[in-house]
Amino acid sequence: MTTLVAVGAQWGDEGKGKLVDWLAPKADLVVRFHGGNNAGHTLVVDGERTVLHVVPAGILDPGTINLIGPGVVVDPTVLLEELLALRERGVLRDPSRVRVSGRAHVILPWHKALDKAREEKAAKHAIGTTGRGIGPAYEDKVTRRGIRVADLLNPEQLRDSIERVAEQKNFELVNYYGWPAIDVAETTRMAIEWGRELEPYVGHVSRTLERALRDGRNVLFEGAQGTFLDIDHGTYPYVTSSNCVAGAVCAGAGVGPTRIDRVLGITKAYTTRVGGGPFPTEEEGEMGARLREVGSEFGATTGRPRRCGWLDAVMLREAVTVNGFTSLAVNKLDVLPGLDELKVATAYKVNGKISQDFPMTLADIEAAEPVYESLPGFTEDIRGCRRFEDLPENARNYVRHIEALVGVPVEILSVGPGRDETIHDLDPFRPRR
Ligand code: GDP
Ligand code: IMO
Ligand code: MG
Repeated sequence: MTTLVAVGAQWGDEGKGKLVDWLAPKADLVVRFHGGNNAGHTLVVDGERTVLHVVPAGILDPGTINLIGPGVVVDPTVLLEELLALRERGVLRDPSRVRVSGRAHVILPWHKALDKAREEKAAKHAIGTTGRGIGPAYEDKVTRRGIRVADLLNPEQLRDSIERVAEQKNFELVNYYGWPAIDVAETTRMAIEWGRELEPYVGHVSRTLERALRDGRNVLFEGAQGTFLDIDHGTYPYVTSSNCVAGAVCAGAGVGPTRIDRVLGITKAYTTRVGGGPFPTEEEGEMGARLREVGSEFGATTGRPRRCGWLDAVMLREAVTVNGFTSLAVNKLDVLPGLDELKVATAYKVNGKISQDFPMTLADIEAAEPVYESLPGFTEDIRGCRRFEDLPENARNYVRHIEALVGVPVEILSVGPGRDETIHDLDPFRPRR
């Protein structure tokens, strides 16, 4: 039995979906433990592209069970659409391959409307959320007003709970934001229908996990977003509303910390961010545009162009601190050929002082000027490489240099979006001790 937590080391979109799909055949279970359909995880198999927002990225592997943990916020319309599409493609024949926790909270129409209304009102201070209702849904969870997936299965009680929520939410929507009220009767009708359709998929995720671990199964935990979008450790307030770090697995899936063996940090070979907030190594000119174009850096959820820049080792070291990575995966190395130099930030200059550490406050992150090291680039197309030794020398040096700067071994390299465009030597699920 080995458990492996795979999390983003930057601001999301590091290629988690691709790697989880690639790792899935070795995993018996793949588990989402936080976030919601703000995530967009892209899988490319035999040239066919699948984008998943809620269903874990183990779904294309027929032998894998996919669990949605209690720490996730679930938009039932999105989950049901995703399940239907997978059934229609013949990918999901057996409903027991997907389990959603009855304890996961539900994203309701009010949450989506409030997310958008708040962003609109915030104008230039907007966070740039995905507008999927994530923040408002987590808010209701924490203030103990939320509706959970299991509640959808009990229509009588559900009617009451929705009416209670509706009164307060509609008041805020109408009177504070000037938005139209949401129809309570229609929402209740929809929610009862969601319950009916989701029932075959609802389960007790932590118990399923515990049984699997006792039976010696391999479990892969699939992070969403990334370390710097974490509510506590990210670039607050320009973050999402959940904990994205590896430690969030324990509460979000319902598994003890003694059960975690390995933590894989996933990074791109450069940096991207979508939405507002500071980004010290951002390249707003030609260089950023080139990375966006060659890397097809457009959001998998909202289609927004991603902001692009150089790799930032200061961030990656902070990510090691808060996640305890046992290894790193470096993705999208194939986007780099043709660049004369490859720059990596190794420190920041903040208000005249050089520091190796990621700053504590938003003001200091905003003020941070990266101190760069420059490595020679390479020109060869590397998408066909399948062994580290096949890579051009300067690509190998770049990877080795990242390892040295971050202090964690790079065990996986990705050289293309396809499942097989992956380089690795060691079995990611080998036992740790
Ligand atoms: P996630 O949210 O972390 O799962 O990442 P996304 O799917 O949102 O964004 C990553 C994008 O890069 C997707 O379009 C992937 O198909 C693509 N991708 C992943 N790995 C590689 C790679 O090594 N090379 C290239 N060129 N594209 C990749
Ligand atoms: P994956 O799992 C990249 C960003 C949004 C915004 C901030 C808050 O595909 O890596 P939210 O809707 O969560 O309240 O938005 O977080 N964001 C992501 N950026 N990848 C994601 O997920 C993201 N999920 C949220 O752009 O800046
Ligand atoms: Mg994504």
